Amino acid sequence: MTLGVNIDHIAVLREARKINDPDPLMALGICAQAGANQITIHLREDRRHIHDEDAAKIIASSTLPVNLECSINPDIIDIVCSLRPHRATLVPEKREEVTTEGGLDADKYFDMILNAINKLKKHDIEVSLFIDPTSEAVELSEKLGAQWVELHTGSYANVYAMRYSSLPHTHHSIEALKNLSRTQLDQKLELAYSCIVDAANLARSCGLKVAAGHGLNYQNVSTIVDIDTIEELNIGQSIIARSVFTGLFSAVSEMKALCKR
Ligand code: PXP
Repeated sequence: MTLGVNIDHIAVLREARKINDPDPLMALGICAQAGANQITIHLREDRRHIHDEDAAKIIASSTLPVNLECSINPDIIDIVCSLRPHRATLVPEKREEVTTEGGLDADKYFDMILNAINKLKKHDIEVSLFIDPTSEAVELSEKLGAQWVELHTGSYANVYAMRYSSLPHTHHSIEALKNLSRTQLDQKLELAYSCIVDAANLARSCGLKVAAGHGLNYQNVSTIVDIDTIEELNIGQSIIARSVFTGLFSAVSEMKALCKR
């Protein structure tokens, strides 16, 4: 299983101060040394974290392939074509969302997606579609000529979090699960998992390469790793969140050393 590390959240932290610290570019070497196989970034229409300049520098400097997530907006697709990442993952985008909610509606936006795929392929950029784990979405992805699908694991992750984690969850997609019993959550979890397995198997049998991501963390990832038709995971939030704590000791120690007279 290969690992794409989504470094958007480093830029989220930078944007809190609007200075270039932490610089997402600094993450490239560390991720590569730690065994990551890919760097994933999302150039959102509102540029809320990664900016065009970040994307250009990351693509130019990364020793790992860069997977650039983007919407199907033709202006964005033109920018992505000029940036020439290794892969573009087309995702649905809503301005008001906290993060990507749900997969692409490949039926509704068929023509727009097709135009985007054709343009990207002309620029030698591999194309992946971020889809919900359903047979319809997989079949449409094949029809559209995508080389990859990335299966949205958000529903699985949400149910998993509600069933096993004691953290307070405030996101609205989790809110809907709050009143379910353990048995109901177990059933939902099994269903969400089997949808991912079935979609991955179908995609692979259609000749598509299969990635998965969204909401994967140190607790819920191993059952997804067990699905052998999935060859790549893209993980961001949980890795960057953990790095705050695993890196805090040395960050405080280094500053404390500088504070010595
Ligand atoms: N894959 C895609 C297509 C995404 O949009 C995201 C979120 O930016 C991820 C993977 C990573 O999700 P998370 O940050 O929850 O690990």
